[in-house]
Amino acid sequence: MRVLLNSCTHRGAAVCQEPSGNARVFQCFYHGWSFTPEGELNGIPGKAAYSEAFDRHALRLREPPGGTSVYREFIFVNFNPANDVSLTDYLWDARDWIDLVADQSAGNMEVTNGTHSYTVRANYKLLVENSIDLYHLPISHKRYLDWLMDANALDRMETGLQRAWNDSSRFSPRDLGNGHSTPGRGRTTWGRPMAHWIPYFGKEREPRFREMYRQAVERLGAERAYQVCVCGGNVQIFPNLLINDLMSTNIRTYYPVEPGLVDISSWCLGPEEEEPEERALRLDNFISFLGPGGFATPDDIEAVEACQRGFDTVREVEYSDMSRGMKSTSPTERDELQIRAFWRQWARLMNAAEPVSIHAAPGP
Ligand code: FES
Ligand SMILES: [Fe+2]
Repeated sequence: MRVLLNSCTHRGAAVCQEPSGNARVFQCFYHGWSFTPEGELNGIPGKAAYSEAFDRHALRLREPPGGTSVYREFIFVNFNPANDVSLTDYLWDARDWIDLVADQSAGNMEVTNGTHSYTVRANYKLLVENSIDLYHLPISHKRYLDWLMDANALDRMETGLQRAWNDSSRFSPRDLGNGHSTPGRGRTTWGRPMAHWIPYFGKEREPRFREMYRQAVERLGAERAYQVCVCGGNVQIFPNLLINDLMSTNIRTYYPVEPGLVDISSWCLGPEEEEPEERALRLDNFISFLGPGGFATPDDIEAVEACQRGFDTVREVEYSDMSRGMKSTSPTERDELQIRAFWRQWARLMNAAEPVSIHAAPGP
């Protein structure tokens, strides 16, 4: 596995213009320099015009200066060589949450075909907050929850919506160290293609789901299988990766374009061994809830863009408040501990007089 920076060593153009695919050679469209998949410069139109001092090898495509590391098939790059902490130490307790996603497959989780790409007129940090904020769920997304109730798409028989949201002991927000955090993980009331059957999926699918669950118990043990298959939760990896594992599982990245504008990409993850029927259920949920035209994401975009507009008054009205649950010794997923964990790390890095190295230590 190799990660190359997409910047031509001739005059800087982005060499690869495709979001995905395979190529034997990467040819820059500007002046036609071409590079091997290893990054070596191997083709220069009009090569004879260059002197003997021209060092082809020195002009290979660059790799991220801090290197590339992989954890459970998630690839991370480090742009700051001063931070020589290992990826496992950087991820700290967030590793457990990645494990809960990776363990959904007997082999590997795979990215399904297709990408959701959209741009939001808000600062990226508002998206981070929104993605781990479950306080807003029954308010902003009431329309979706009502629809799920009407469609009998929630596991009412076993828990019921009210109980789900009133039983705060199920989810427990956590600061996972180094700015990573989660509103917690708990039993979800909606079914999941990952072996959690509910009547909405149809009686005919029940035996198959029960069998998938049996296999998961065999592979992972009863307690772990329950956590992996029946429970769900979001985790945000500082600063701009979210793993949303509530219904379908998706990963989302945020790349700021400017202070009030952010590009978002989102992909659905599923077990590579998943059958087409379950994959269809997964994708249906991914599109209908999390898609940019789904039930939830437009609500969320409206909310964070409204915040961004509201912050125009920042000279007159200084806020945000994220103190919910501060006095509690057992905060709930609707509290804001997980949001404070992100902002504390952000403030620590931004306010430091000197560059701060990331420590292999959990947060407070
Ligand atoms: S910028 Fe790439 S070949 Fe000139
Ligand atoms: Fe939301």
